[in-house]
Amino acid sequence: MPKDTLTITDNRTGKTYEVPIENGCIRTHALRQIKVGDDDFGLMGYDPAFLNTANCRSAITFIDGDKGILEYRGYPIEQLAEKSSFLEVAYLLLNGELPTPKELEKFIHLVTHHTYVHENIKTFMDGFRYDAHPMSMLASTVAALSGFYPDAKHTKDEHHRRIQITRLIAKMPTLAAFSYRHSMGLPYIYPDNDLSYVANFLAMIRRIGTATYKVHPTLERALDLLFILHADHEQNCSTTSVRTVGSSEVDPYSAVSAGIGALYGPLHGGANEAVLRMLREIGHVSKIPDFIKAVKSGEGEKKLMGFGHRVYKSYDPRAKVIKRVADEVFEVTGKNPLLDIAVELERIALQDEYFVKRKLYPNVDFYSGLIYEAMGFPVEMFPVLFAIPRTVGWCAQWEEMVKDPEQKIARPRQIYVGAQRRDYVPMDKRAAK
Ligand code: SDX
Repeated sequence: MPKDTLTITDNRTGKTYEVPIENGCIRTHALRQIKVGDDDFGLMGYDPAFLNTANCRSAITFIDGDKGILEYRGYPIEQLAEKSSFLEVAYLLLNGELPTPKELEKFIHLVTHHTYVHENIKTFMDGFRYDAHPMSMLASTVAALSGFYPDAKHTKDEHHRRIQITRLIAKMPTLAAFSYRHSMGLPYIYPDNDLSYVANFLAMIRRIGTATYKVHPTLERALDLLFILHADHEQNCSTTSVRTVGSSEVDPYSAVSAGIGALYGPLHGGANEAVLRMLREIGHVSKIPDFIKAVKSGEGEKKLMGFGHRVYKSYDPRAKVIKRVADEVFEVTGKNPLLDIAVELERIALQDEYFVKRKLYPNVDFYSGLIYEAMGFPVEMFPVLFAIPRTVGWCAQWEEMVKDPEQKIARPRQIYVGAQRRDYVPMDKRAAK
């Protein structure tokens, strides 16, 4: 009868060790028993960028990269995109089950009535240069919320955790809209409790000179759907940052601001902004072959932004849905001229051995930016539009980490490759380099 164990022979000593296999993993800590002598620290695992390391058990999101599967709490993303709403998905991610009508109504009421921020946040926001990137403003103001809600440090208390999570979900659109209005030199628009989560955000972005703002239903539905697609994605770079920072038992505002910083990077959430800049740089379908050639030759470390994924080695299921949303949005806004370049770029890349061999397919960021641009958002706002919905995933993952009895402060080890022990050299003895 095969056993769920790994037998390891240390050829340095001839000793063998039996290590249990659980959930397709071995506990790396089990390697510490493998030593060559009593004063040996024991073996460690070495996995830069965690290419093959699980850092937690999670019940929130399941991804199968080879099959292109994404499920939130077991529900396929395609079904949630078609049948659910962003706040219903937020409830699902946070609580593990779809809400009853009453539960959803109460959740929406709670979020709706926490959208305001302290007036001092405006002064804080005004301190930024007019051209400050909204992601840097968002990361800073979210961290600043920690100073407005001192009770947030009671992370072991469920009531305190949940009120902070509600505030984060509710205030993110307000802070995002304030950062946009600041960068446009426009007055801030306050939240309108009579509007839906997405309509309220769009009104805070767009409203000028009128008492109300009518959101086009197609655009409202499209952005709600995009928010569903971006809500969570298991242990990506920004979620790992939130879990790592949160493991020190700091408040969730400080942990989420670390996630915003990670998402800001062009290899992660900043990719949607980088895709638009890439399409503009290409400029015309006739220029695509030269661009692809430059990417393949490694010229200037060019990448095909919006392509590739650490986990998906087939089509990102979110990209398929986004492509459909794009058609609906362009019906209303008019087609984005860069779409032709994007579609042709995808067609060529999917036939090119370089990309096929490396299993590089369009990811969630490849088409989303085209929609955001068609909706009138500047490219700098694209990663902010990613951060708003991902706040739900960050909060759900943060709370799962806080409640996980196996988790403690994250503190990896290292392989030291620096100078060996040596004595201090007086200034007059130091040779010029
Ligand atoms: C998101 O993790 C998540 O779940 C993230 C996310 C989420 O929802 O949270 O899904 C959101 O961040 C999507 C990814 C957005 N980023 C981009 O579109 C930026 C472009 N993509 C790449 O930078 C890259 O594909 C990554 C960062 C997404 C993944 O990088 P990996 O897994 O570290 O892969 P790698 O860099 O080791 O690449 C393997 C090979 C290399 O070539 P070789 O050294 O083998 O010759 O593929 C090449 C890379 O040069 N490659 C690319 C490429 N991506 C990888 N070549 C050209 N263009 C690309 N986009």
